[in-house]
Amino acid sequence: MTILLLGSGGREHAFAWKMIQSPLCDQLFVAPGNAGTAAIATNVNISPTDFDAIKTLVLQENITMVVVGPEDPLVKGIFDFFKNDDKLSHIPVIGPSKTGAQLEGSKEFAKEFLVKHNIPTAAYDSFTAETVEQGCDFLATLKAPYVLKADGLAAGKGVLIIHDLAEAKEELRNMLVGQKFGAASTKVVIEEFLDGIELSCFVLTDGKTYKILPTAKDYKRIGEGDTGLNTGGMGAVSPVPYVDAVLMEKIESRIVKPTIEGFQKDGIEYKGFVFIGLINVNNEPIVIEYNVRMGDPETEVVVPRLKTDLVELFLAVANEKLDEITLEIDERSATTVMLVSGGYPEDYEKGKVITGLENVTDSIVFHAGTKLENNEVLTNGGRVLAITSYGNDFQEAIKKSYQNIDKLHFDKMNFRKDIGNDLL
Ligand code: AMP
Ligand code: GLY
Repeated sequence: MTILLLGSGGREHAFAWKMIQSPLCDQLFVAPGNAGTAAIATNVNISPTDFDAIKTLVLQENITMVVVGPEDPLVKGIFDFFKNDDKLSHIPVIGPSKTGAQLEGSKEFAKEFLVKHNIPTAAYDSFTAETVEQGCDFLATLKAPYVLKADGLAAGKGVLIIHDLAEAKEELRNMLVGQKFGAASTKVVIEEFLDGIELSCFVLTDGKTYKILPTAKDYKRIGEGDTGLNTGGMGAVSPVPYVDAVLMEKIESRIVKPTIEGFQKDGIEYKGFVFIGLINVNNEPIVIEYNVRMGDPETEVVVPRLKTDLVELFLAVANEKLDEITLEIDERSATTVMLVSGGYPEDYEKGKVITGLENVTDSIVFHAGTKLENNEVLTNGGRVLAITSYGNDFQEAIKKSYQNIDKLHFDKMNFRKDIGNDLL
């Protein structure tokens, strides 16, 4: 097969790393990719949301499958674009339809879906500029802290958790009337605060059946001890040690199964990943969000633990034959630590030379924000490299990641030194 993978992060390098191990993969293109994918596949300088350019490439290169990494092209409807084009409709796209992608593209859509299908989620209401005063009244009926969520995609920044009522009301006005997050905050979901431990559940579905992938936990804040600004993710661990069979059974029966059945009942076409963000409140899993893609950096620990051929899995998704596959998982733990540019998640510089890559042993280096220029690997984003390792437990794995990080360097390199510490 000739496969096109869309995206340019650590998630996509991990997908590419796994897919090229498949005997089913003859050729892999990545658009736009990074220095890591350039070393194992063919990068093409096309944006994942430039559907016309993607169409030209797919026809030119006889591409036989498209795998979508990030949410943007999904929310913009790449699945439907292929399905409704005579020349492309036979080519499977791994990812949900535009309607399915609304689970991530609109918090209100997601909440309505959850409630409709009786899936546990925090109580909520949603408001617009016209109903901003009702929103303020609603806030006054809740206990602090207050959770405000911009309805649309806001690059991971659209959720505010505020302790003071007056401040929460002011932020609600800023979002709805002041367009704090642009069009994304035309609507705002106000949600009950859930107090518990977060975890993520990853599911691959062909729309009829599903496979639950290994659990993973990511570390969202920039600072050690989970302090400071939110980032895309500073590291991850898989499996999550405190998720036992009892909790997993609850997650499957109360959340995963009704989600997939909900797709069928609502006529939502969905052939791809569902990333379910959960909070475990006194051993009761409650959904806080859906994403319609894999997590990053969670992919960098989940995919390395998959023993099953990923291309075979994707083919089964496309052909609605996922029930015929047995998922094989590596029993070992995997951890990853993100090396980021100094200043991230605020302003940072790019174009720094990365050295020491050739000295890494016993870890996998997944590239995120990197590019190749004159045979040098340069930083090209906030999150630069994900250093993934295996171990018999996560402590052993994380030790290897940190040992290898010692061999790597770029100007103003930063990383968290406490990944996994909360799990000890
Ligand atoms: P989301 O984009 O919905 O994942 O929200 C971003 C972060 O806000 C989550 O990772 C949680 O840490 C937090 N969060 C979202 N919803 C809630 C809630 N209802 N209660 C407590 N924390 C929440
Ligand atoms: N690591 C969180 C995400 O990918 O959304």
